[in-house]
Parts: sequence; structure tokens; C-alpha cells
Amino acid sequence: MKALVLAAGTGSRLRPVTHTGAKQLVPVANRPVLFYALEALAAARITEVGVVIGPRADDIKESVGDGSDFGLDVTYICQEEPLGLAHAVLVSQEFLGDDDFLMYLGDNFVGEGVAHFADEFRRQRPAAQILLTPVADPTSFGVAELDAEGRVVSLEEKPRTPRSDLAVMGVYLFTSAIHDGIREIKPSARGELEITHAIQWLIEEGRDVRSTVSTGYWRDTGNVADMLDVNRHVLDSLVTDHTAVGEVDEDSVLTGEVRVAPGARVVRSRIVGPVVIGSGSVVVGSRIGPHTSIAEDCEITGSDIESSIVLLGSTVRDVPAITASLIGRHTSVRSARAGGNHHLVLGDHTRITLAS
Ligand code: DAU
Repeated sequence: MKALVLAAGTGSRLRPVTHTGAKQLVPVANRPVLFYALEALAAARITEVGVVIGPRADDIKESVGDGSDFGLDVTYICQEEPLGLAHAVLVSQEFLGDDDFLMYLGDNFVGEGVAHFADEFRRQRPAAQILLTPVADPTSFGVAELDAEGRVVSLEEKPRTPRSDLAVMGVYLFTSAIHDGIREIKPSARGELEITHAIQWLIEEGRDVRSTVSTGYWRDTGNVADMLDVNRHVLDSLVTDHTAVGEVDEDSVLTGEVRVAPGARVVRSRIVGPVVIGSGSVVVGSRIGPHTSIAEDCEITGSDIESSIVLLGSTVRDVPAITASLIGRHTSVRSARAGGNHHLVLGDHTRITLAS
């Protein structure tokens, strides 16, 4: 079985951070969200992985490389325009051949991994198997309707009036039968070739389309709130590595699970875990945490940051209350006066002075 990881697309709901970087590379607990997907594939004993990227996704190539760091053999497939999930499969035909494959949306985070879904598929080999999970608001997802035996009766993409609360998760298992469906479908109202339509075609043709309902932790990290939630979830299982720690001075207090990477410094600060602080970062006279990831080479001085992600090379100075924020790379935030709670979503290379 091969895997196809979809990492093209514009990431419009994560703007401005995705103006300058791929959304699949936004880090949670200081590791790109895409890396968790690649690790899940390796754990499912899949090694041949096609990664679909847009024309400018050199940063993905640079961070994933040939995949050997993950025990994978990665082939890059360029999709010139994000014309839909089924279109991404279409441009990957040469890589996929007639093999079974697991398709993984690169911005999805699946807490339980995918190994048991892949094993079930290997045993039963239906034409397609999808993963479903109950959600409060299904209108921004593919939605499945099941019959009494749990077979998929219909699939709709982002319906206004959903027929169930079962959202399609971004992990699909296919035999080569899916290519027949993709050849038959037309672009949707939003101009995309939808994989849900290709699967619906299989259903109407009477092919075996199965589903597994998962109740494990799952998020589509397409928006900031979900990205922060995944950060919180991953940090909740953080275990401090006491053998590799940066410098923490005597005036600092660390409680809970706190990872201060080698090469990072904490001075006169209070860190309330779970928190990760990347190498080269310096935290002075600040209060950080809980549920906060500070990437590499950041400088945090006289500030208080909670439930947030601060990306590479950013500076935060004298800001008393930052919460539920995503701060882009090489960004500078400083406060002229104290007071107030700040929720910030800042793109890369931003400079901002908070006046109140
Ligand atoms: O997250 C689950 C949902 O993902 C499903 O419930 C929906 O049925 C499915 O259509 C999809 O919806 P989204 O609107 O969230 O998909 P999005 O456009 O965000 O794309 C998902 C991933 O696939 C993302 O990593 C970008 C990549 N992609 C997307 C498109 C449209 C591509 O590689 N090529 C594309 O053409």
C-alpha cells in the first residue's frame, strides 16, 4: 500500500500566517503538523509516500527532504493549482499506478494515528474506506449518511442541511477503483474536483464503500482556533526530557512538563507547563504557559503568554497578556503601555506596537 499526502492548497483560513509559508508546516509543539502525519504513515508500515505540493512549496521539500528521517521514501508531485482533492489524485496517477493507497490530508491531525485503519483495509479491501467522526457543526466538512448496517448511503460536501453529524475525516483508503470515479465527476460549485463526489459515484455503482467511525481526537488544523487546540492536545502528552535541557537560572521557576531545548535560556521567569521552548530562544522576566509553544530563536522579555504558538525568530517585549494567539515568524510585538488581554494572529515579518 502507498500513501498520498495532500499538501498543496492555499491555506486561506490561516492567513496571514500562510501568506508566507505552507499551512502544513505551521508547528504544533514546535514540530510541523505535517510531520505527525508522516510519522503516522511510517507507524502504519507504509513507506512509499507521494507528497502533493503546490508550485511554490519549496519549504515543504526542504523540511521533509527525501523522507528518510521518517523512514519513508518520499516522491514529490506538483499540482499546479489546487483544483480539488480528486484532482490531486488525478495528477498523482503515475506515482499511484494500480496500487491501493491511503490518502492523508496534510493539515489533518489524527490523534490515534492510522495504523489500525490501514490494517483493517488490508484485511478487507473494500473499494473505499472512509473515516468519520461526530462533530457539532458538520457544515464545513464532507458529511456521510449511513444505513442501519453502517454502510455509506450518501456523501455530501459541506452541505447546508447535513443529513447526519458524521464528518469525513481527512484520511481515506482506496483501491484503484477510485480512479474510475474520478474520471466520471465534474467540478463542484466551488470549482473543485471533489473526492466526496468520486466516492459517491462508487456508492451509486454499487461498489463496496465502508466507513469506520472514530471517536478519537481529530482536528482539521485549517483555522487558528483548531491549530491552537492541537497544540494544547500535543503538549498535554509532553514528557520533559531531563537529559537535554537548556539553561535555566536560579531565579526562574518551572512547574509541570517544560521542555527547554539545548541552546535556549530562561532567566528570571516563571514557566507553567506544558510548554516547549526551542533552541536559541531567550525568555527573560516573563511568565509563559500553560499550553504554549515558543519556536527557535525567539526573544520574550517582560511578557505573559498563554495558550499560544510563537513562531521562529519572533520578539515579544513588555506585553502583559497574550492569550490564544498565533504569532508568525520573525515578528516583533511590543507594548507601549500595559493593560488588556491580547488575542493576536500575526503573519510573518509583522511589527506591531500595542498602545493599550
Ligand atoms: O478535513 C476534512 C475535510 O477535508 C473533509 O471533511 C472534506 O470532505 C474535504 O473536502 C476536505 O475539506 P477542506 O475544505 O478542509 O479541504 P482543504 O481545501 O482545506 O484541503 C485539505 C488538504 O488538501 C490541505 O492540506 C490542502 C490539500 N489540498 C487541497 C486542495 C483543494 C491539495 O493538496 N490540493 C487541492 O487541490
